[in-house]
Amino acid sequence: MATATKSRNKKRMLKYTAASADRHELYQLSVQNVESEIDFVDETYKKLRGKQASLLREDFCGTAATSCEWVSRRSTNRAIGVDLDAETLEWGRTHNLRKLEGDAAERVTLLQRDVRDPGPEGMGADIVLAMNFSYWIFQTRDELRAYFRTVLESLDDDGMFMCDFYGGSEAMSEQEEYRKVNRHFTYIWDQHKYNPITGEMDCKIHFKFPDGSEMRNAFEYTWRLWTLPEIRELLAEAGFEDVTVYWEGTDPDDEEEGNGEFEPTLVGDADPAFICYIVSQKKAKAAPASA
Ligand SMILES: C[S@@+](CC[C@H](N)C(=O)[O-])C[C@H]1O[C@@H](n2cnc3c(N)ncnc32)[C@H](O)[C@@H]1O
Repeated sequence: MATATKSRNKKRMLKYTAASADRHELYQLSVQNVESEIDFVDETYKKLRGKQASLLREDFCGTAATSCEWVSRRSTNRAIGVDLDAETLEWGRTHNLRKLEGDAAERVTLLQRDVRDPGPEGMGADIVLAMNFSYWIFQTRDELRAYFRTVLESLDDDGMFMCDFYGGSEAMSEQEEYRKVNRHFTYIWDQHKYNPITGEMDCKIHFKFPDGSEMRNAFEYTWRLWTLPEIRELLAEAGFEDVTVYWEGTDPDDEEEGNGEFEPTLVGDADPAFICYIVSQKKAKAAPASA
């Protein structure tokens, strides 16, 4: 018995080598936290509108993990995922949509399209999301403003656009950051090249395994490293009536760490590395008093 268990464990460990691991699975485990993301999105819309959102569009959806989390929260929720990459969308269908319970998978529509042209099915959303800084692929102010404008036009009148933002002095350093995700693998965030003249940066994700093997360049991005004031200005120029930054509070037991609670503010700390959310309302409305 002991031997059988041992060999089963060995097999499970063997799954996590550079040759056999699945890069999308590793990405989801190391980069995404769709539960806390959707907690924030759902609660913020409810607070600002005094009602629940139902139609969410996930731009740059990749494997649509966030869309799947959204439809699993309420039977009235629907999600539209938009991504250019057919292989990634197919992975999401096979691995994420298939695992959903009841009719939830039928409430997810995946569109292989450019986010700047989501088509008729991508219109009328309560919330449009662009997470993990994916909108940084747009390198100029004109390109980014034009994308924000198409988002604005595709929203319901009560709608809002939510995206995240990464900044701080470390964001412009060429450096590799190692994080052990679990006993099976280590995630490496590689800020590979940064050009301070154009703001262009090349970032890569690698994974390292207990057997010493490495999956190099599992994901590669060429982004513009934007600043938060630039993004706020471009969202306002695109026509959003209210653009608000939600900043993370500090862990009471460790002032170097965040507490996972994001609150609206105009004053942030000069953290060397921070992540915040930006919530942009199509029409500015005061939050209902009872929310
Ligand atoms: C960093 S991944 C984001 C995955 C996931 N949404 C997340 O939050 O981690 C970026 C995704 O954007 C997609 N993408 C890049 N440019 C795009 C465009 N113009 N329109 C639609 N999708 C695009 C890529 O195919 C890729 O799957």
